[in-house]
Amino acid sequence: MAKKKSDDSGAAASPAAASPNGASPNGASPQAASNASNMLRAPAEVLYAEEIEHLIQEDKYDRPPGWRMSPRAVLTYICGGKTGSREITPKYIGHQRLVEIAISTLVTDRSLLLIGEPGTAKSWLSEHLAAAINGDSTKVVQGTAGTTEEQIRYTWNYAMLIAHGPSHDALIKSPIFRAMESGSLARFEEITRCAAEVQDALISLLSEKRLSVPELATEVPAAKGFSVIATANTRDRGVNDMSAALKRRFNMIVLPTPATIETEIQIVRKRVRELAVNLELKAKVPTEDAVEQVVTIFRELRTGQTLDGKNKLKVPSGVLSTAEAISVLANGMALAGNFGTGEVTAPDLAAGLQGAVVKDEEKDKVVWQEYLSNVMKKRGAEWRPLFTACSEHNT
Ligand SMILES: Nc1ncnc2c1ncn2[C@@H]1O[C@H](COP(=O)(O)OP(=O)(O)OP(=O)(O)O)[C@@H](O)[C@H]1O
Ligand SMILES: [Mg+2]
Repeated sequence: MAKKKSDDSGAAASPAAASPNGASPNGASPQAASNASNMLRAPAEVLYAEEIEHLIQEDKYDRPPGWRMSPRAVLTYICGGKTGSREITPKYIGHQRLVEIAISTLVTDRSLLLIGEPGTAKSWLSEHLAAAINGDSTKVVQGTAGTTEEQIRYTWNYAMLIAHGPSHDALIKSPIFRAMESGSLARFEEITRCAAEVQDALISLLSEKRLSVPELATEVPAAKGFSVIATANTRDRGVNDMSAALKRRFNMIVLPTPATIETEIQIVRKRVRELAVNLELKAKVPTEDAVEQVVTIFRELRTGQTLDGKNKLKVPSGVLSTAEAISVLANGMALAGNFGTGEVTAPDLAAGLQGAVVKDEEKDKVVWQEYLSNVMKKRGAEWRPLFTACSEHNT
């Protein structure tokens, strides 16, 4: 069966972070709220239930069929702003226009494909869109080389099938089937990893907007509000391998890496704070300088030049995404909290940086060593502790 992706790079904020006043999200049932505090990664609609409820209550605009709130309210939920007297936290930080185009696409009968480098918040944005629009981001198909056609259509409870023959009760519906029936959004993660025949099966669902179940001599038409938000990254088996016919069914939006260092620092700081609450890391949030240094290293190695543009650099084989920068800092907090004084030190960050930069022991080590001695070493006193700690891993 389709399974939900559960890497912690996309982990959302804790309920406490979602409701800064500490109140439990009143949109969710008490049980959902208490379950959420136990979950390593609760879905966005649970974490931000309170914000979603407020947006629905204050919403003065028309709602498209099947939507819980208007497109404007969805935009406020994703990009942040005010509703009534309540502040809504931004979820996606970047071009608001891209989010507007994404939301508008979902109002039409075309599906949405979010593409970009790894760690550019494709899954994150897709989850939050589904949470705001339907209050349910969990109808997910995770695309892999092993994804079968059944996982996007339906399969059977074989015990019931053998005992009583095909029946509605014996049907196990895929997330896409359920979304079609209920007129809601299904998410398709890493769609390009699926085999061509699985992509083809999706083409017919998206163009005909009906799913046939020949064994029951029936056809399920998609209710209004149905759409698919797919994600694909431009590395690995990327969008270039996707069939042209399937590409035509989607409006594609490219999510860029953060345009400026300030934006990237803002994203990283926000997510690290949220993760720290969620994972109950017993350490202080890294200082602004520490965050800036980590993000600087990531941006310089990613783009192959120093921020001032004066020195060209070799680029390591890994992606060095924003998501990884967040992990380096969160790991630093875990080290400091469990084995240090609770203050994130240079050695705590060096450990994570080494793993993030050196993915290929032979090639990347040289790149990293050159960066250390040609760039970091020459940067003056504030960089000295991090330089020394990183160098120790490379002797
Ligand atoms: N522009 C952004 N605004 C808010 N959060 C961001 C942004 N860019 C990255 N992030 C954060 O980075 C993390 C990773 O995002 P996500 O898992 O959605 O990436 P992805 O694009 O789906 O990557 P992959 O291709 O590896 O699946 C999330 O925690 C997200 O909050
Ligand atoms: Mg993803």
